[in-house]
Amino acid sequence: MTDSMQASTSAVDPADFFAAPVDPGSRDRLAATGLDYRVVDHDGSDFAAWLGVVGRGFLGEERTDTQVAAIRERSAHRRSTGVYDSTAPMADAPVATIASWIADLTVPGGAVIPSCAISAVTVSPTHRRRGIARAMLEGELAAAAAAGAPMAMLTVSESTLYGRYGFAPAALSAEWRIDVKRASWIGPIPDGRVDFVTREQARELLGTIHDRRRLSTAGEIPMQPGGWDGYTGTRPDAEKAGSKRAVRYADADGEVRGVAVYTVTENHDDFTKASVHVGYLLAETDDAYAALWRFFVELDLVAEVRAGELSVDEPLRWMLSDQRAATVTVMDHQYVRILDVKAALEARTFGAAGEFVLDVADPLGHTTGRWLLRVDGEGRGTVSRADDDAPAWAVPIALGIAELSAAYLGGVSIATLAAAGRVKTTDAAAAARTFGWHTAPRLSFWY
Ligand SMILES: CC(C)(COP(=O)(O)OP(=O)(O)OC[C@H]1O[C@@H](n2cnc3c(N)ncnc32)[C@H](O)[C@@H]1OP(=O)(O)O)[C@@H](O)C(=O)NCCC(=O)NCCS
Repeated sequence: MTDSMQASTSAVDPADFFAAPVDPGSRDRLAATGLDYRVVDHDGSDFAAWLGVVGRGFLGEERTDTQVAAIRERSAHRRSTGVYDSTAPMADAPVATIASWIADLTVPGGAVIPSCAISAVTVSPTHRRRGIARAMLEGELAAAAAAGAPMAMLTVSESTLYGRYGFAPAALSAEWRIDVKRASWIGPIPDGRVDFVTREQARELLGTIHDRRRLSTAGEIPMQPGGWDGYTGTRPDAEKAGSKRAVRYADADGEVRGVAVYTVTENHDDFTKASVHVGYLLAETDDAYAALWRFFVELDLVAEVRAGELSVDEPLRWMLSDQRAATVTVMDHQYVRILDVKAALEARTFGAAGEFVLDVADPLGHTTGRWLLRVDGEGRGTVSRADDDAPAWAVPIALGIAELSAAYLGGVSIATLAAAGRVKTTDAAAAARTFGWHTAPRLSFWY
């Protein structure tokens, strides 16, 4: 447990989860094949070898001692777990890795629920396709459920990996490329001001503003320690830090409401056609949003502006004179997996009243069963086990836990899932109204 661990808003104690042993079921399964599944001592010598295997698993180069020390410091909140093969020549290095920690996920309505974030999932090419990843993932989900976490979540390298465990993409992300030579600004022109700030100032602003802003966007989680340094180039081991520029927006009262960091790539063939990559744009008011995007759309000597991990429903589209100036690519991004139907559904606010019997199939058994969901006029839901005397008027919805997880943040309509054959219900429109939400969920970074 470190100072960087945030206090949880619910009964789940991140420190208990951090200190928990690995799931005994998965440990025994792996032990039966001669492998040792264990938690790695974050402060001990094993950590460097564990980290080296994570880097190799994602095709990276070996890290320097300085980088290992920096990562050790900023990842002290993460429970690092490894699978070891004592018969391998490098027996001190694991053959598989996974990291997890408890973090608050914002849900529709602005509440947060403690969720088990999973990262650093690798299995060495020498040990692939023997069920090691399955054993670790099932183990982490069991450990998270045992700690009382109602949800697990992750971002993925490949879309094909996690549906089998009940995860689904619940917040998509959009990458924008704007041809700014044809996109004149038709949005508001706020009366505050945009000014350059230092990278250090930008890092501080990103931290403080995101901590407020994330609570109004379903799908967001807190940034991990050191994460903003990655955007602003303020880590001691940062490369090309000098290429990063930062601006902030202050409203007419002088309150800072937004900040953006970006890099410019010159075009040596045509000096008027540089390209800009917006690393992160954070705005907590509509004015800040408009002012910062206008800054980028109207930059001189720039032909293209790119930005990633945006919402699939950006107001920016309606601020450009020519919508086709923007090419938008949408991708699956924030995956969630409900572990506790009652706790998860009661945490969010729904879009409309209704009564439903959810018949949930769960490949791992955590949520299997029939659940009665009653949503009142305020959008508050209560969930109980549905017995045989569930009201006759309750709308039946039969679905897998992946589909319920997909719809949970309001990112996909139950009607769409029904049309895709992923959900069975007699009233897709009613289900869509209740599970829907008026803004698209978004996660603005990877973890
Ligand atoms: C992805 C990875 C962790 C899989 O590890 P593994 O131990 O080979 O996986 P398992 O043998 O436990 O396979 C579990 C299931 O996933 C499937 N699977 C594994 N890798 C897959 C892939 N790349 N694409 C599709 N399915 C895959 C298996 O077929 C198996 O299916 P089943 O159990 O439903 O029959 C490993 O290949 C790896 O480290 N890849 C590079 C790093 C990476 O991308 N990690 C994921 C980060 S989000």
